[in-house]
Amino acid sequence: MHSPSIRNPILVATLLAALSVGLLAVVSLADTRANIDFDRDVRPILAENCFKCHGPDAGARQAGLRLDIAEGATTRLVSGRIPVVPGNLAKSELVLRIGAKDARQMPPVSSGKKLKSAQIAILREWIQQGARYGKHWAFIAPIRPALPSVKNTTWPRNQIDYFILAHLEKEGLKPSPEADKRTLIRRVCLDLTGLPPTIAEVDAFLADKSPNAYEKVVDRLLASPHYGERMALPWLDLAHYADTHGYHIDSHRDMWKWRDWVINAFNRNLNYDQFVVEQLAGDLLPNATLDQKVATGFCRNHPINFEGGAIPEEYAAAYVEDRIDTTATTFMALTLRCTQRHDHNCEWNQRRQGVQCRGGSSCAHGAQPFRGDSRSDSERRAHGKRLRFWIVR
Ligand code: HEC
Repeated sequence: MHSPSIRNPILVATLLAALSVGLLAVVSLADTRANIDFDRDVRPILAENCFKCHGPDAGARQAGLRLDIAEGATTRLVSGRIPVVPGNLAKSELVLRIGAKDARQMPPVSSGKKLKSAQIAILREWIQQGARYGKHWAFIAPIRPALPSVKNTTWPRNQIDYFILAHLEKEGLKPSPEADKRTLIRRVCLDLTGLPPTIAEVDAFLADKSPNAYEKVVDRLLASPHYGERMALPWLDLAHYADTHGYHIDSHRDMWKWRDWVINAFNRNLNYDQFVVEQLAGDLLPNATLDQKVATGFCRNHPINFEGGAIPEEYAAAYVEDRIDTTATTFMALTLRCTQRHDHNCEWNQRRQGVQCRGGSSCAHGAQPFRGDSRSDSERRAHGKRLRFWIVR
């Protein structure tokens, strides 16, 4: 390049800096413009600053305005105004309110919340682009992404490697050298069985010079009964497994039959659908086997209080809460505990659904009906059955 400025390094550096700052600004603005995503960009702003008064909790809702769903945002209010008119900033009351400097300002000064100008810009841009709502990311089925392209195409051996390497390259890092064989066998044994290798196993691996020596070790570990024990551990934790009843007496009970069911499920490679169905509703399957009934031990892992003065009705309710919480956390990665008390600030986590789960769980697992539950035993049982199949579907 024969640019005159090349002879003046300071000028070049200054120019480059100015250029790159300018470029960055353009890029990030263009980036926001191109990719406004409700879930990533808009929902966090609304959740933090607006849902307290304009969210799903009908009891706390102000001005009849609900901003967590498209219908709420675009419907004319009692005030006669429309909060959000997709594509039209001037007609959207929301835009006026978030930009207001007087008593109309949203969120109200009294709430202690204030939007940053960048957040205002995002909300405006979102409306400009059509105010599309999207589902929460956790409720969107994952799709298999395309393999990222990498510079060093000789390093990756499997698909996961491509993702790791692409990220390393982005950060300007290089992969570490491969671990030596002793380290490798120790790691893979602990990963797959939770146990260190024996000396004989290490020696055999060191002596095996074949190109698939490592794969052979992995196959041997996958076939080991200790594999199921290792895999079962986090599941037992999630399910609150214990061979005692909990609370202060913490006396003995036998849940290990269920524990062994879980271990065997991994060892016989039971598919996940069946793994879930049998634990939640194995006893309701046609011609249920003893094994399938044992699987429902999952629903019986809650603590039980044997204290003389314990009020049965209170603890019946506590056990149901525990099952609901365990079931939801384990299978939906979603705690429903908040639904004991109130509607949560997100549309999928409502008190009503929590109460429905409770109704189903209490009868499905033999707890006492709640006071005020006027349904007959058979109605409650039928509901419990429907509910458990709803969860497993
Ligand atoms: C602490 C409670 C509270 C918070 C937080 C809050 N608002 Fe409001 N909002 C109100 C109240 C009360 C009204 C009715 C009084 C009024 O119109 O000023 C209202 C009215 C509105 C209106 C006009 C409704 C109509 O009837 O025309 C809009 C639009 C609005 N809010 C948007 C928002 C947005 C957007 C946020 C978050 C950035 C937000 N609000 C945060 C309490 C709140």
